[in-house]
Amino acid sequence: MTPVLPGAPWLIAHRTMVGINRPYEITLNGRDYVLWQTAEGQLFALDNSCPHMQAPLSNGWVCQERQSITCPFHALEFSGDGRLLTEGKPSGQPIAKPLDLVIQGDLIWTYGGFSPRLPIPDLIPRKTNGLKFLGATGARSIQADFLSCIKINYDFNHQNGSHRETFRVRENPIHRFEAQGHIARVDLTFIREDNTFKEILDNPAILSLPKRYQGQLDYVFPSLVVFRAEVDLGHLPQVFVLYPETESRTRIFVLCYGTWNPLLLKLPGVNQFMTRSLLKATAVVTEQDAKTVESLYPSQPPQIRLPHEDIMAYVEQLYRDW
Ligand code: FES
Ligand SMILES: [Fe+2]
Repeated sequence: MTPVLPGAPWLIAHRTMVGINRPYEITLNGRDYVLWQTAEGQLFALDNSCPHMQAPLSNGWVCQERQSITCPFHALEFSGDGRLLTEGKPSGQPIAKPLDLVIQGDLIWTYGGFSPRLPIPDLIPRKTNGLKFLGATGARSIQADFLSCIKINYDFNHQNGSHRETFRVRENPIHRFEAQGHIARVDLTFIREDNTFKEILDNPAILSLPKRYQGQLDYVFPSLVVFRAEVDLGHLPQVFVLYPETESRTRIFVLCYGTWNPLLLKLPGVNQFMTRSLLKATAVVTEQDAKTVESLYPSQPPQIRLPHEDIMAYVEQLYRDW
């Protein structure tokens, strides 16, 4: 395949998603890789195709003592730098191809084998400094190309369609849109209708949304959007992450951070309950976006214009000018 945005930094996982001493498979720009993490937090990544007879290493198993991965087909064992183990020791030259990783705290980034064209963004550490990591949620492959998937993150008119039942947004006026190269920021207000009782039961986290609240979106093209809403329940930034799996498949996941309002902490169990419902509600939102994008017919020049579509044009331009 033609790689999507070669040289872009891609956030492929948070450490908690990889787990400990077990293979974790990802697909990036048409290639499959296997990652694994030791109990001490060392991370390794190799091309997923075994150099012997191309079995998927991610179907194999990790040896804790030797920090190696074993192929599920003929049980050959490889070190994290891709060398074959003989009598328990790595020997010779690497034969399995390692994937370059850049570790930023708990965040696992890669350039997918291309020369870097943008630095690893510091947006997440800046926006989540001092906050607790609440969990990763909404991980899913969207059956759609990268551009269609990223555009919905810059689309300020779909709240009332795709997310109608969750947010009941009546209006979301934008007060500020600033873009500088691949970095952008949007400030807006959400004005909501009431949710139905059933919607609240299905999705209690929407109780945390007042009738009117401010929100900010910070974008770093092409991989990240951080959303923050000013609500009484706490300071709870959400990081929406995208990377291209293939030309027609895009991976999404969301990292939730935050501190709940100290008043909530006084009530036993409420904190955990709210965290669970926040993660669930966030996954509902990404599912709504994914379903929307997957349902679209091939793109045509639009014959109707809605407000703020210049923000979508901005991201499309970044994509086409890469
Ligand atoms: S295919 Fe991997 S060991 Fe043979
Ligand atoms: Fe959306």
